[in-house]
Amino acid sequence: MLSLDSHSFADPTQATIRHIAFQLEPDFGERCVRVRARYTLDRPVRGSFFLDSRDVRIDRVEAGGRSVRWALDKEDPILGQRLHLMDLAGVTEFSVEMTAGPEASALQWLEPPQTAEGLHPFLYSQCQSCSARALFPCQDTPQVRFTYEADILAPRPLTAVMAAEASGEKEEGARRRFSFHMRQPIPSYLFAFAVGRLAFQTLGPRTGVWAEPPTLPAAAWEFAENEAKLEAGEGLFGPYLWDRYDLLIMPPAFPYGGMENPRLTFLNGCYVLGDRSGTYMVSHELAHAWTGNLVTNASWEDFWLNEGPTTYAETRLSEILEGIDAAELRTAGRVLRLQKAIDRLGHDSPMTCLHISLAGKSPDESYSDVAYFKGLLFFRQLERAVGRDRFDSFLRDYIETFRFRSIDSEGFLAHLQARLPELAESVDLRQWVFEPGLPEGSAEVRSTLLEEVEQAADAYRRGGRPTAEQVAGWTTDQRIVFLGRLLPAVPAADCAYFDSLFGMATVRDGGLLSRFAELAVRSGYREVLPTYEGFFSTVGRYSFHEPVFRALVEQDWSRSLARPLLERWRWRHHPHTAAALERILAEAGL
Ligand code: BES
Ligand code: ZN
Repeated sequence: MLSLDSHSFADPTQATIRHIAFQLEPDFGERCVRVRARYTLDRPVRGSFFLDSRDVRIDRVEAGGRSVRWALDKEDPILGQRLHLMDLAGVTEFSVEMTAGPEASALQWLEPPQTAEGLHPFLYSQCQSCSARALFPCQDTPQVRFTYEADILAPRPLTAVMAAEASGEKEEGARRRFSFHMRQPIPSYLFAFAVGRLAFQTLGPRTGVWAEPPTLPAAAWEFAENEAKLEAGEGLFGPYLWDRYDLLIMPPAFPYGGMENPRLTFLNGCYVLGDRSGTYMVSHELAHAWTGNLVTNASWEDFWLNEGPTTYAETRLSEILEGIDAAELRTAGRVLRLQKAIDRLGHDSPMTCLHISLAGKSPDESYSDVAYFKGLLFFRQLERAVGRDRFDSFLRDYIETFRFRSIDSEGFLAHLQARLPELAESVDLRQWVFEPGLPEGSAEVRSTLLEEVEQAADAYRRGGRPTAEQVAGWTTDQRIVFLGRLLPAVPAADCAYFDSLFGMATVRDGGLLSRFAELAVRSGYREVLPTYEGFFSTVGRYSFHEPVFRALVEQDWSRSLARPLLERWRWRHHPHTAAALERILAEAGL
């Protein structure tokens, strides 16, 4: 029995959605999507039926040719509105006509200048965590899965893509009708589509990439290893059950690095770097195909069950594709970030538990590095305790046992205890999951790449700046970790030195830019601002900007600059990114 999902008004005991047939008509002029959805339920409804919704304008509900009475309850700021369908007794099929307007939190409408080609607008959906309900009423909880089919009417010359199987294309006057089918049952947060000027290139038998035409060749080179990665994933975690694995290269305004939409990862275009140094992002989203998309967290309180195992699985793929040393270096950088996050939240803070209680809170507000990197360390600890072979068999069995289902923390611990009973002697499982902070000794990471930058950081502290020859061979991750070791601050003059040493004016890697900007702001190096603003005005990934905005509001010299910066570029950012940065300003009293 799963715990209830406090972020949904749905009551799956009434009946559950099994299948939805959609028609979506985006209107770029009005910035709205007209949606028609025909729902099929698993059993006849007895009386009322509740669905989640937010800001959608419902035009009509009907069942068997008659119209159905409905009511929207009072708005809850986090959950939205409960849609109450009133006279569905005996019904297993009904349809809803509605419109998702310009404010719909599931959608971002991009202007042509925000795209690579610069000529056409771009529209996409992002439903995780609770935004599917802003596109169509649904049981918006990861505990309910449904299959779907969908038609999208896209104005020429735009192409529609979905995280689903493409099943046809038809000319209809000035528009084209793109048809899709999703045969594997998904939770609502994995529903996804995009409409833009897009082209496709094959990478391998099961892999390919969608991108705007000017980006396509570079993207195809960058992600040429995806087929090998998919095979490596199957070797580690068992059969890939989603048929294809394609990428959609997103405009850089996308608020995340990547989003694991099934069959079609949405990947931030800022990771097309020309040197494959950001391809671990693909490893992460691909790993979700097993952990997250097959075995899904039962609610956002157990978000760590999506992200922790996935970050662990990502690291295992990185070991194979990039080598252990590079993978461990990245882990070291993440442990540093985790420690910073725990310092900031407080070592006793309930927000540093893997399982977090979100009563009265939005999952987006509670997003932090803890689920990812404490989750990663927990899985490393489990592996260490039972040995890699045994842990790998455990993982494959776990995925096979719970595939296409949801699991919560208690369920996971019970399963661990049943399959790996010896763990109880060496690992305090409940402490890991339900207690704050980081268990001692769990954060040891070793890598020669790491030692190299640690020595350079120690030498710098004793007065020796690293030389250009010394850093010439450093990887991006080494540079990021090196600068991280210098936090919170260095003399501003040294920032000027690092600025030219690392050629920050021409650096494209967002992780490095973000880390440098954070250090520079904390060090009072004002000259960083134009570089940072250029970056902030184009790249939307929230995790890049969070540390910089925290630095901006915490320093006297930059405090008053933070809000005007956000206001200048808010229009370019996804509402998630803007809202999260807004919270940082608000907490600082700005
Ligand atoms: N599913 C997440 C992105 C996400 C999380 C969207 C919460 C909405 C709400 C995705 O898989 C992810 O974790 N992306 C990370 C990847 C990184 C840790 C390698 C990102 O974008 O930072
Ligand atoms: Zn993830």
